[in-house]
Amino acid sequence: MSFLENYFKKTKEGDRKSRAMAFLASIDAIKEKYPQIAKDIVQELIDQRSNLKLIASENYSSLEVQLAMGNLLTDKYSEGYVYHRFYAGCDNVDNIEEQAIEQAKKLFNADHVYVQPHSGADANLVAFWSILVHKIQNREIEKLNKKTALDLTEAEYEKIRSLMVNQKILGMSLNSGGHLTHGFRLNVSSKMMKAYTYDVNSKTGVLDYGELQAKAKEVKPLILLAGYSAYSRKLNFAKMKEIADSVGAVLMVDMAHFAGLVAGKVFQGEYDPVPFADIVTTTTHKTLRGPRGGMVICKEEYKEVVDKGCPLILGGPMPHVMAAKAIAFKEANTRDFQSYAQQIVKNAKALAESLMKKGVKLLTDGTENHIIMMDVAKSFNLTGRQAESLLRSTHLTVNRNSIPNDTNGAWYTSGIRLGTPAITSLGLKEAEMEVIADVIENVLKNANPEIKEKNKEPSKAKATLDENILKNNQNKIKDLLSKHLLYPELIID
Ligand SMILES: Cc1ncc(COP(=O)(O)O)c(C=O)c1O
Repeated sequence: MSFLENYFKKTKEGDRKSRAMAFLASIDAIKEKYPQIAKDIVQELIDQRSNLKLIASENYSSLEVQLAMGNLLTDKYSEGYVYHRFYAGCDNVDNIEEQAIEQAKKLFNADHVYVQPHSGADANLVAFWSILVHKIQNREIEKLNKKTALDLTEAEYEKIRSLMVNQKILGMSLNSGGHLTHGFRLNVSSKMMKAYTYDVNSKTGVLDYGELQAKAKEVKPLILLAGYSAYSRKLNFAKMKEIADSVGAVLMVDMAHFAGLVAGKVFQGEYDPVPFADIVTTTTHKTLRGPRGGMVICKEEYKEVVDKGCPLILGGPMPHVMAAKAIAFKEANTRDFQSYAQQIVKNAKALAESLMKKGVKLLTDGTENHIIMMDVAKSFNLTGRQAESLLRSTHLTVNRNSIPNDTNGAWYTSGIRLGTPAITSLGLKEAEMEVIADVIENVLKNANPEIKEKNKEPSKAKATLDENILKNNQNKIKDLLSKHLLYPELIID
């Protein structure tokens, strides 16, 4: 029997949801010719239903967001920007992109928005190069009394190009919680500019604005970059802007992780980057709960150069994803989403407090956002890798993360990053955070590193746990999962 027929059999007429029928029909359609792909999609739903997702960068988007991406919009080329395209027949894409832009402008109270980047990494590239082109290339062209880069001689262009790649960027180090795209050695961001990093304070683990000011004065970067992937405190963007201004730097903020907290009005005033930063980048799929994608928000000054993200960085935009972005931004501009965003932070606080009460060492001794960073080396004498796989066997999906001065290196790590956006979407509240904290502490406290056959040394990858302790904890998480079914309208059995 097809998924759709099964759905009709198991539901009454008035209860049927078109989003569920559309999803199930799409699986049936794929299954006819590509059964293995259909099976993998359904299996992903089963897996996600069987594990509590504590990955700080993931969420559960609405079925409307997902369905907007599964259609013929994917076929259309629309290089350029709204009403200014290099292809014919872009009227509908114009409408869609315009709606996404208008919704995002309203949501973030922004001067200008560019919704074409395919991901957070792309959005950062668009922002970096927009700053370089606006601040360096275009000024040099003006000095030469020419109009565009196409008017330059080879020698003139080469001089400007080397000026651009010798500019400095100052971002938070990977070890302190910054992102790979913020100047990490193995990422292009450290190859196209001279990359410098700032760290959190070595004692508190919190960013010290005095230390940052001193570092900015020493480096004098073109770009001061704020934003993080593994840091559990708010950032004060009024202070960041003062620091940037004091050294003549552009303030760029990558709010990929906390965009949903800005949209949901949890981060307001000095904690909202949009009024202070020259350029803000984000992903749309983390706390913001939209489709996988990126976006750039900028002040009027950068509008012209940012809109030319194609050809600067990108090729054709993805109209199907822009349609889903428009829907997600509309969803986020509601009271419900604001309550959701507040609950994300309440849940993170409750989880952090429960863990700390049990003696677990958290970086910065708590959280002000959706992220909790556990030091599992100090707390349990385990590596992040061991803790990650033990927790997964208890149906908790987390990711290991390096922490400042990590003695276990970037592969094994000493940290575990926990996040509450996805479990809050599922409807879990503070009381349930205590159950999760109980399970985490109980599992990790009772684990022992496996002893390697070869050299009898303790393994850094594997750890063992008593079968009864494992079962007992699995049952506690299964109980939570049974009360919060993911996408309950999707009947697949
Ligand atoms: C702060 C930050 N910026 C950028 C990115 C990159 O986003 P994407 O994976 O969509 O390229 C991430 C992803 O984890 C991130 O945390």
